[in-house]
Amino acid sequence: MNKSRVFQGSYTDAHCHILPGIDDGPKTVEDSEKLAQKLISMGFARIIATPHYYFYKETADSFIRRRTEAFKSVNFPKGLSVLPSAEVALESGLTRACDLKKLAIPGTNKILIELPMKKYNQKISEELYSIKMYHGLYPVLAHIERYDRFFDDDGYNDILSAEGIVFQISAFSLASFRQRRLFMKLYKFGANIVLGTDAHRIDFRVQDSAKGIKKLSKMIDSNEFERIMNCDILGLA
Ligand SMILES: [Fe+2]
Repeated sequence: MNKSRVFQGSYTDAHCHILPGIDDGPKTVEDSEKLAQKLISMGFARIIATPHYYFYKETADSFIRRRTEAFKSVNFPKGLSVLPSAEVALESGLTRACDLKKLAIPGTNKILIELPMKKYNQKISEELYSIKMYHGLYPVLAHIERYDRFFDDDGYNDILSAEGIVFQISAFSLASFRQRRLFMKLYKFGANIVLGTDAHRIDFRVQDSAKGIKKLSKMIDSNEFERIMNCDILGLA
């Protein structure tokens, strides 16, 4: 196992609020550009831009119009690929009301889903199933570490038994010993894992994300580390 690695600039951030003025991410174009530069310095070459989307607040088309405007306003540095997508809140009725394919991670059959902050239950399980069944998409569960207290092992097993589901772990969470334990639990279960910074601004979660990535590089085999950091499971081109 390689204990010290140099960042090679190939990582993919699976969850990032990098677009300006669209949600609780950067307020200005300059703040977005600073965040982009910082992420590049940490080894990222691709960022999946995931502004919050709530289906009961606006249509997917209206959201996409705002997102396109925000995306076009930023002059992203050369060498950084930014893919406009969404962090879609899972609420009752979502899978009937919304054409989720419009919000998927571009070029993939995956979509970033934010679970409700409540105990994992059958209803949530059914909505996740409907995402796959009726929209042909596999959910990527955003910042899964946030829900640990709502899950028991049966809950995790239920999700893990659903083929193709992906767990997104926040890079900053790996700076904490307790959260590293959760990562290892899922990793040993054989879960599909990707990392995201869930960064909103340069001064929010970014430093701890860098620490978390460093910790991760020492926790697992180098090929596995690269696989997770490059988000291979998403099947991006
Ligand atoms: Fe987020």
